[in-house]
Amino acid sequence: MKKILLVGSANMDLSMNICRVPEPGETLLDDGGIAYTPGGKGANSAVAFAKLGADCVFCTKLGADAHGQKLFNYYKECGINTSCIKVDPEAPTGLAVVMKEADGANRIIVYPGANKTLTRENVLDAFFTEPDALYIGFEIPFDIAVAAAKIASVKNIPIFVDAAPASKDYPLEMLPPVEVFSPNESETLEYTGIYPDTTENCLKAALALSNRVKAKYIVIKLGSRGSFVFDGKHLDVIPAYRPDAVVDTTAAGDTFTAGLTLEYLRSYGNIKNAMRYGSAAAAIAVSRKGAGSSIPSEDEVIEFLRKRINF
Ligand code: ATP
Ligand code: RIB
Repeated sequence: MKKILLVGSANMDLSMNICRVPEPGETLLDDGGIAYTPGGKGANSAVAFAKLGADCVFCTKLGADAHGQKLFNYYKECGINTSCIKVDPEAPTGLAVVMKEADGANRIIVYPGANKTLTRENVLDAFFTEPDALYIGFEIPFDIAVAAAKIASVKNIPIFVDAAPASKDYPLEMLPPVEVFSPNESETLEYTGIYPDTTENCLKAALALSNRVKAKYIVIKLGSRGSFVFDGKHLDVIPAYRPDAVVDTTAAGDTFTAGLTLEYLRSYGNIKNAMRYGSAAAAIAVSRKGAGSSIPSEDEVIEFLRKRINF
């Protein structure tokens, strides 16, 4: 079983179904429904790893509050290795307000809380678990994500980056060489100024990213259009699988990148297989409500792929 160290964020998600975003100064009554569910880009990927059959060591920080306690219990239930989860006595657990409009689009605002207080020492300690791979995201302080990558690099541990959320101010050049660097469409725009709406623009953006990040593969997530990969010489587009329904796209990206990473490791670096596997896991996730709760098990992904291939 592959052991993956995930250094990333944990949030409680407050999901609201909204008919529209209020105008400035407007108060909008909307009884579309609310729910508190486990979320956070790092945690969603940790749940995906555990459900898809990896031994996932999750290095994150929670607050000493009810949300933190609930999340911790949930991670245990999911089979995540919780030995590297720290608790901040003062900062609250991260909170994300997820506004979901009727067409399935979502807008998310994150209050990072305890995610901001993860330290280099916390990360260094986590490497004693001797992982096969490191997976990082940027919903924690950027310098901590870079520190984790640098430790992994010294130890010759392959590094996978879910490049979310993005800021054009992030010094991506600080990252050591990585296997996969994967932003979505809006993150690609933020990092490069190029919106990846056509294959040509995907290539331009991937070239711009390659100038800043030494990645074996740049993989751009393109929502229902699928995903794009560039290895420095060749490009490919892997179409998305048609989901049974599009119910809630929250955590599609987190599921895709985790699935891709795990299958990449299991298939000794077969990037296209890995992207197909990530796409299948994400297509199932978008057909269900919630973030962590929408992520499929390994058996469900195998069954999904079997049906699509035999079709
Ligand atoms: P999120 O922020 O909602 O977690 P994201 O914006 O990071 O997601 P997307 O590009 O929306 O990531 O989705 C990641 C992958 O999930 C896509 O590359 C695709 O394979 C799959 N996917 C997303 N939306 C759909 C959809 N509507 N139908 C089928 N597959 C989808
Ligand atoms: O990618 C989806 C996640 O982004 C949500 O679960 C929310 O917590 C934010 O981090």
